[in-house]
Amino acid sequence: MPAVVIVGAQWGDEGKGKASDQLGTKVDYVVKFNGGNNAGHTVVVDGEKFALHLLPAGILTPNCIPVIGNGVVVDLEVLFAEIADLEARGMDPSRLRISGNAHVIPSYNKKMDAVNERMLGKRKLGTTGRGIGPTYADKMNRIGIRIQDLFDPSILRQKVEGALAQKNVMLESLLDEQFDVDAITNDLLSYADRVKPMLMNATAELNHALDAGKMIAFEAGQATMLDIDHGTYPFVTSSSCTAAGACTGSGVGPRRIDRVVGVAKAYITRVGEGPFPTELFDADGERLREVGGEYGVTTGRPRRCGWYDSVVARYATMVNSLTDIVITKLDVLTGLAQIPVCVAYDIDGQRVEDMPDSQTAMHHAKPIYEYFPGWEEDISECKTFADLPENAQQYILQLERLSGCRISSIGVGPGREQTIVRTPLLD
Ligand code: GDP
Ligand code: IMO
Ligand code: MG
Repeated sequence: MPAVVIVGAQWGDEGKGKASDQLGTKVDYVVKFNGGNNAGHTVVVDGEKFALHLLPAGILTPNCIPVIGNGVVVDLEVLFAEIADLEARGMDPSRLRISGNAHVIPSYNKKMDAVNERMLGKRKLGTTGRGIGPTYADKMNRIGIRIQDLFDPSILRQKVEGALAQKNVMLESLLDEQFDVDAITNDLLSYADRVKPMLMNATAELNHALDAGKMIAFEAGQATMLDIDHGTYPFVTSSSCTAAGACTGSGVGPRRIDRVVGVAKAYITRVGEGPFPTELFDADGERLREVGGEYGVTTGRPRRCGWYDSVVARYATMVNSLTDIVITKLDVLTGLAQIPVCVAYDIDGQRVEDMPDSQTAMHHAKPIYEYFPGWEEDISECKTFADLPENAQQYILQLERLSGCRISSIGVGPGREQTIVRTPLLD
């Protein structure tokens, strides 16, 4: 059972880092296939907390090779800062490999991210400001800079010149600023010697590894509802965060994927702007934020909190062809007398069970709730499903029914070992 994809089944921050870290101890490669340092993945190993942004969770597991695939956008300054940080904490990140086809986030795209947000005014997205959108836009516009360009200074300079020919016009008129072609080129070139030993022909190596019976986990950044095609556009990120992105972002074809695991919180959160039908504006929302520690790993922003949305879950099951759901943070719900779960939307008086495909409908969607009884017992030490209080077991069974996919594991705390496994993710 060699290839497993891990995706976010909600709006991000579901606990993908923890799930990927757990698989990392069992697989040969962990491949990040989309996004960049907009991600913030927290992994707790032996009580020690690591916040990863650009690096795949496999970096924390000896013997597992972490890979940055072609679908990722790489801020080189952040890459080496994260590596230095891990080294300072006694980890060995030297196994990291990068596809030469991954795109680079040049400094001008961080500026462009801020300019785009400013120009959108009150329609802004609330991006992480890391230059993600402009870098994917350059990729599609075929004026992107790739990792492999760092090794050909003349080509690199021409590409930077080509990209800046357009951007400098805009920056000049808006900010009275220009980026200097030579300064940008030299800055990028300054990383070349350090990147060279990490270079990898990812498509060839990953496919050969699968041929040889090796195991690969593909780790998504962001989530289904932030996917550029399938999310709540335009309030999304700019990459393919769904399972299909694992193929385009790594060079491994769909028939090689055996399992697709969607990670979902036992409730739901969102960071940034955009529709969010089950969002809470009351003391319950505040409670989820405080008990769940719902503050962004990347930007520190308070996360918007709401009840579990099974319309979102069914949609994620569909779009990703999920084989398994991992529910996280069930412990955060302990102490609630009853727990609402959104089973459908009321859209302009109509009951709707499928995710609407119109932005207007999504903005009008009101949650229709079913209520399930809560539990008081501390569940953070539970090891098996049977250890959970009866109402917690029932809550999980109801989420399973409503989400249309089996729930294979349940998180009862942030630690690696605080996971109840019902069906192992690797056979
Ligand atoms: P990611 O972006 O999907 O990797 O998720 P984040 O790291 O942004 O946010 C998930 C947070 O929940 C992190 O602080 C994790 O340590 C924490 N976490 C993950 N699983 C559990 C769980 O089952 N219970 C609790 N209490 N915390 C968890
Ligand atoms: P992980 O991998 C939650 C959100 C931003 C913003 C939108 C676009 O930790 O789950 P971008 O900078 O990507 O152009 O911002 O997407 N966003 C995330 N929200 N978790 C993330 O990553 C996110 N990455 C981006 O808040 O609304
Ligand atoms: Mg996160």
